Amino acid sequence: MINSSRNGSISGLGRALPARRVSNDDLSHWVDTSDEWIRSHTGIESRYLAGEGETCSSLAIVASRKAIEQAKVDPSDIGMVICATSTPNYKAFPSTAALIQDGLGLEQAGAYDLSAACSGFTYALEMGRAMIVAGTTDHVLVVGAEILSSIVNWQDRNTCVLFGDGAGAAVLSVSEKREGVQFSYLRAVGSGEKALMIERGGSATALTAEWLEASDDLSSMFISMDGRKVYEFAVRVLVETINHLLEQAGISKDELDHIVPHQANIRIIQAAAKRSGIPLKKFFINLQEYGNTSAATVPIALKDMDDRKLLKKGQKIITIGFGAGLTYGGNYIIW
Ligand code: ACO
Repeated sequence: MINSSRNGSISGLGRALPARRVSNDDLSHWVDTSDEWIRSHTGIESRYLAGEGETCSSLAIVASRKAIEQAKVDPSDIGMVICATSTPNYKAFPSTAALIQDGLGLEQAGAYDLSAACSGFTYALEMGRAMIVAGTTDHVLVVGAEILSSIVNWQDRNTCVLFGDGAGAAVLSVSEKREGVQFSYLRAVGSGEKALMIERGGSATALTAEWLEASDDLSSMFISMDGRKVYEFAVRVLVETINHLLEQAGISKDELDHIVPHQANIRIIQAAAKRSGIPLKKFFINLQEYGNTSAATVPIALKDMDDRKLLKKGQKIITIGFGAGLTYGGNYIIW
């Protein structure tokens, strides 16, 4: 039986980035691109890329430890770890969430990875909320962590300039007050599978010794993207998600304090702001610093907002993810 007086609210946030910052100028030595092109087409100025010893789980553990410290939660009270990622330490198993559970010594926690690409954190936040509302546990660690540099084709200038590595974490804790993640809107358009994918290396297209030997083009092992299609999809679903969540919340655009969108490209966010009639200043943007860190963009953005004291009690916030699948969705949060 669901106890409806239980809400899941974010009690702590954490962020972790690799040590190495790579500027657009640095990238222009690797592929035929320029700072001017990347800035003007994406808004991105730099990104952090993992080096020796920096893995999806190691960044996730650093981010999670900070989130747990801020939440002031006893680690043994955390009942579940959900790690949204497309770049787990290992291809199939063990899950990165299990590595996080072990790294943090969360003795009472279950752990699983969630695969919804760049929408992963918004999906995971809803999974955590549902567990808390259902009374399964009082605290869930929700992580978005990526080493996208491991799946990017570093010879493809169309994609390699867009992505970065990083991790963000949130502790979701039971609250009997009104604050917290109120509800979510989660959708998928699987017919768009080819717009953004890694074609080879899954169970349907296994990397056999024969294939590796016969193939002189390995690009299908890395991210491929139809930029235009993804752009159009992203703008459309950002607006749809905002409108749906506003309607369900029964509030107007003016009453909304912040929109925290997936940080893919500044032009996507600008177009969505224009189309939704919501001032761009309500959209939090930090992609200039980190690039697109997929499932990590939203929790990193929330942490940056918290550090800048932008998040105030009672504020109405929408978080939004969109990405491969194609998947999309958002959470409505009262801070
Ligand atoms: N440097 C220099 N030139 C480049 C680069 C680069 N890094 N990348 C592409 N170009 C060139 C192309 O080759 C093309 O040259 P051509 O005209 O001689 O053929 C030219 O720039 C224009 O290419 P377009 O694809 O038309 O560029 P567009 O203005 O559409 O921008 C972009 C491309 C930024 C990818 C855009 O389509 C976009 O934002 N798409 C959304 C995709 C996205 O953000 N994905 C992120 C990951 S997905 C996710 O998180 C959901």
